[in-house]
Amino acid sequence: MDILVTGGAGYIGSHTVVALIEAGHTPYIVDNYSNSSPAVLDAIRKITGVSVPAFKFDVQDESKLNRLFSRVSFDAVIHFAGLKAVAESVERPLEYYDNNLQSAIVLLRTMRKHYVNRIVFSSSATVYGPKNPVPFTEGMDTCATNPYGWTKVMIEQIIRDVCVAIPDMSAVMLRYFNPVGAHPSGLIGENPNGIPNNLVPYIQKVATGDLPHLNVTGTDYDTPDGTGVRDYLHVVDLAQAHVKAVDYTLGKTGSVEINVGTGKGESVLNMLHAYERACGKTLPYVAAPRRAGDIAECFADTRKAKELLGWEAKLGVDDMCRDSWRFVSQN
Ligand code: NAD
Ligand code: UFG
Repeated sequence: MDILVTGGAGYIGSHTVVALIEAGHTPYIVDNYSNSSPAVLDAIRKITGVSVPAFKFDVQDESKLNRLFSRVSFDAVIHFAGLKAVAESVERPLEYYDNNLQSAIVLLRTMRKHYVNRIVFSSSATVYGPKNPVPFTEGMDTCATNPYGWTKVMIEQIIRDVCVAIPDMSAVMLRYFNPVGAHPSGLIGENPNGIPNNLVPYIQKVATGDLPHLNVTGTDYDTPDGTGVRDYLHVVDLAQAHVKAVDYTLGKTGSVEINVGTGKGESVLNMLHAYERACGKTLPYVAAPRRAGDIAECFADTRKAKELLGWEAKLGVDDMCRDSWRFVSQN
């Protein structure tokens, strides 16, 4: 299939482009490189032997998007493009609502115009909000605690509404839990600029010596070791879920929400110790206050992914930390 991948130069998008090529599809990337670099295209070529057509523009640019849809008859779209930093979204809410909502609306309008009816959307476990009990199941009420999370709640609703209005539309909204790790080649992965907000990118920088210690943000949660519990998922497994989700849209109509996680929760300290095993070093940490808005535990009920997509995670935390460490030590 010819598949448009918006945000395909980003962390999850680049791994998905590799998985699509390996599954025999032809991906096309649109990315404005606001949080990535065209260098990733060389890395994808080294891994797959394929030069992926890539177009540098903002998904909100409707005339450029229309021109691309006129040139290529896409069978499906995977929509990753968006801003994703929670704290930044609290500081710059309009930028987040503008970029994330407008990109989704322009994309859906262009798809409609060109009779492209299949979309896979990057949603997030953040839509379960702070009140639902774990494990999170797809039927639970959705809510958010920050502008980034609200954009996911809102785009999911926009897609549901479009699927009602256009009966031959088919949409899968994948709710990712905590994607980490890197491609086993060490050529693509996640390496944010500056001080990372998320746990594994932060641990990476402690392991390389760029940061002195991990701040464990919350040690008094009602969890086995007092630290926050999350459902960490290897990005290569997550990429496979997208290949399955695109296949699922064939011959289907309507919209569906599907959790993508392992179903297992790991504490901050367990992740730190797994990373110590991967890099062969002791990694210092200090107890720090809870982060505002954090919840104690977050992990998925994964039955729907297995039933509908035939997908389940294959890789564990040791694989995630090993591949993350290989990526940072090679780059
Ligand atoms: P990323 O920032 O690495 O990738 C996003 C890509 O989209 C980047 O390459 C960026 O340059 C591009 N982009 C942003 N706005 C654009 C626009 N308007 N037009 C064109 N390109 C644009 O992020 P990621 O971690 O790969 O996340 C991909 C998607 O998955 C995002 O929608 C994110 O919200 C969602 N998600 C991520 C996580 C996570 O922990 N990484 C968790 C849940 C959901
Ligand atoms: N943590 C630390 N120290 C740090 C960073 C994080 O101890 O320096 C802890 C947090 O308190 C939490 C756990 O590590 O208990 C995971 O934190 P992350 O920031 O890595 O992940 P979150 O689950 O808080 O949030 C992530 C994404 C959100 C997304 C959510 C659900 O950042 O965008 O997963 O998918 F919405």
